[in-house]
Amino acid sequence: MIPNMSDMQTQVGIVGAGPAGLLLAHLLHGHGIASVVLETRSRAHIERRIRAGVLEQGTVDLLIECGLGERMQREGLVHHGIELRFSGRGHRIDFSELTDGRGITVYGQQEVVKDLLAAREAAGALPRFEVADVSVADLESDRPAVRFTYDGAEHELRCDVIAGCDGSHGVCRPSIPDAAVTTYEREYPFGWLGILAEVAPSTEELIYARHERGFALHSMRSPELSRFYLQCEPDADPDDWPDARIWEELRIRLALDLDEGPIIEKGVTPMRSYVVEPMQHGRLFLAGDAAHIVPPTGAKGLNLAVADVRVLAAALRDFYAGTDAGLGAYSDTCLRRVWRAEHFSWWMTSMLHRFPGGHGFEEKLQLSQLEYVAGSRAAATTLAENYVGLGQRI
Ligand code: FAD
Ligand code: PHB
Repeated sequence: MIPNMSDMQTQVGIVGAGPAGLLLAHLLHGHGIASVVLETRSRAHIERRIRAGVLEQGTVDLLIECGLGERMQREGLVHHGIELRFSGRGHRIDFSELTDGRGITVYGQQEVVKDLLAAREAAGALPRFEVADVSVADLESDRPAVRFTYDGAEHELRCDVIAGCDGSHGVCRPSIPDAAVTTYEREYPFGWLGILAEVAPSTEELIYARHERGFALHSMRSPELSRFYLQCEPDADPDDWPDARIWEELRIRLALDLDEGPIIEKGVTPMRSYVVEPMQHGRLFLAGDAAHIVPPTGAKGLNLAVADVRVLAAALRDFYAGTDAGLGAYSDTCLRRVWRAEHFSWWMTSMLHRFPGGHGFEEKLQLSQLEYVAGSRAAATTLAENYVGLGQRI
């Protein structure tokens, strides 16, 4: 039972215990700044939620720096390239060679979340799980509030700053008056069916395949666990995808002799690009999916969430040391990286998916672009350096 919080206070109120909210709480703790994280779901739910799998070098470096790297360094799979497959052939993009030895680490988002929760638990500061009716108030004052109910009782948390880390369906972003922000948006006419299967991956590196029947991706989570994605209708029902259909479609689109295993999870994700500018209103600062969404083809969403909270934690450290220039620059600083990732994710998505009703002309352009990436060092470097992440250079 949590104490009556009707008059509870903290320095930073954090809405949402996804990677953004949990990592922010951890970084602030390292700076001696108190925070409270409020989350609508249960701990078991957020630890089981399967999402991203690719960590950029900058994300890995930050997690190690702040003491969260131990299990990731042991269990994460370091990759130095990916394969692009189209027109029945595979082409390797060699990250090491094209980006001075850099690479990516395949380590599930839910594993990052588990590591973060273990750190929060060790600090005696677990999020308040299963809160409801969350709202934010007094954003333009210097004592904003987060209101919520827990166990049927109403509570209020007063703080100096609110971090809106509540993802794409949260309450923080819609609490900003429409006139105070501009939103940029694109919906794609397809989704991804994500599959987790208990079988050793049939490839060492990720395979991104463009096929006339639609996009397919072969990823992984461990030497025993494979992760796959298939382009599907945006509102597809996973029940229309029995296991036999999934394996057949994967084999055709990936042009690969796949090993099969029990499918233990499947779900559909719609694809969207979205940015809100600025990522701040008064004392509310948005981070991660609350502020921007990318289609997952570029593997950027989690990495952007981590990059945002790195900037926000440093800005809050300076704020409590007496200077608010960092908070003032927060949105502009983050948006430079966000727009680079938006472009890269849109570009990868456009190049690799089948567009319903698409014309021969667009298909020819896609293939020409893919051949250019596969055959030109300059074009391959563009893909490689965006994929591994531009680090501190942006
Ligand atoms: P979230 O993880 O969405 O966390 C928000 C939290 O807020 C949730 O726990 C939610 O329950 C909680 N919440 C919501 N509303 C409220 C409320 N009102 N009050 C309190 N709490 C609330 N990214 C990559 O970088 N690499 C990849 O390979 C990749 N692959 C992906 C594959 C798929 C299929 C999908 C769906 C996404 C993928 N992403 C990837 C994107 C990545 O998963 C997200 O960008 C990431 O989860 C963002 O983290 P977040 O903390 O901002 O938001
Ligand atoms: C994943 O492993 O979940 C994954 C990998 C690459 C992507 C998206 C998701 O682009």
